[in-house]
Amino acid sequence: MAADPTFLTAPPRFVFFTGKGGVGKTSIACASALRLARAGKKVLLVSTDPASNVGQVFGLSIGNTITEVPAVPGLSALEIDPEQAAAAYRERIVGPVRGLLPDAEIASITEQLSGSCTTEVASFDEFTSLLTDPDDQVAGFDHVLFDTAPTGHTIRLLQLPGNWTEFLDHGKGDASCLGPLAGLDKQKAMYAGAVEALSDPERTRLVLVARANRAALAEIARTHSELAAIGMTGQHVVVNGVLPAPAEDTDPLATAVYQREQAALAGRGAAIAALPTDLVELKPVNMVGLDALSTLFDTTTTTAMTTGTDPGLAAVADAPLADLVDAIEPTGPDW
Ligand SMILES: Nc1ncnc2c1ncn2[C@@H]1O[C@H](COP(=O)(O)OP(=O)(O)OP(=O)(O)O)[C@@H](O)[C@H]1O
Ligand SMILES: [Mg+2]
Repeated sequence: MAADPTFLTAPPRFVFFTGKGGVGKTSIACASALRLARAGKKVLLVSTDPASNVGQVFGLSIGNTITEVPAVPGLSALEIDPEQAAAAYRERIVGPVRGLLPDAEIASITEQLSGSCTTEVASFDEFTSLLTDPDDQVAGFDHVLFDTAPTGHTIRLLQLPGNWTEFLDHGKGDASCLGPLAGLDKQKAMYAGAVEALSDPERTRLVLVARANRAALAEIARTHSELAAIGMTGQHVVVNGVLPAPAEDTDPLATAVYQREQAALAGRGAAIAALPTDLVELKPVNMVGLDALSTLFDTTTTTAMTTGTDPGLAAVADAPLADLVDAIEPTGPDW
């Protein structure tokens, strides 16, 4: 097995994987969960993506309850499903008063709690309860890994604990989608606890996943500063799907792609270049199933996994590049 990538070295309890659509967040999160579980850790992999495909990657159905991955001792997964979370949230509010209030009133409260705001708050409640663990739901796990939706959604999710804490403190805005504001103090404490956990690098690491192209690198640069601004300072970069250095003069197309990627990497902004960085190579297969995931952090060259501020841009000969490119499936990585 290859050495641990930097972002998996002494990982804190919570690790978030974020980045532009299709860069490999789910693949990196699943491969990380697998690696930690195989190292003897108890790991919970949580998807906060409404369009989660974590179940598909492991070949099982997960959903909104913590589900053990049978083939991997120590690994469990959970998909936060926004609609199911919203239904449960509504039931927590409406259930206790059903039969006590007139039907018309129940219908009106239910209606008020059926919009997109409630859906968002409900998923977010589930997410914050994982961070603060009021019911000891995740106490038995050494690590909780979050595979997230593409950047915008995730930034919003991570900013919400702070926004809601402020909102509840100052009573600004329209809270009708929250339902009756009972138990507010408990919620306040939970959101404040979540803010604390997110901004503590001893507890939370943010892994910014990109591909070696300008758009994906620019996106993680923005995310880096937006999330540093709310105190998430424990940040790492993973550049995924990097083409290994081609053997000289074998394949002009591969050489051109390689050079373009290396130029994009070299031109990444200073803020990103200063973060601990790992490169993960492009693989000939899609990252579905345990065999593929087990190989994701393997390298064909000696430079593909590099730590520190210089992600190993030196060319290394003898990479079996032609085989690699030939083997890539037509339906392969989408970017
Ligand atoms: N290093 C790699 N080599 C080859 N294929 C890869 C690599 N990393 C990811 N892939 C493939 O690229 C595709 C996109 O990866 P993945 O689903 O992990 O991205 P994502 O960032 O989670 O996407 P989304 O934003 O849609 O959730 C998948 O088909 C995956 O198998
Ligand atoms: Mg994904």
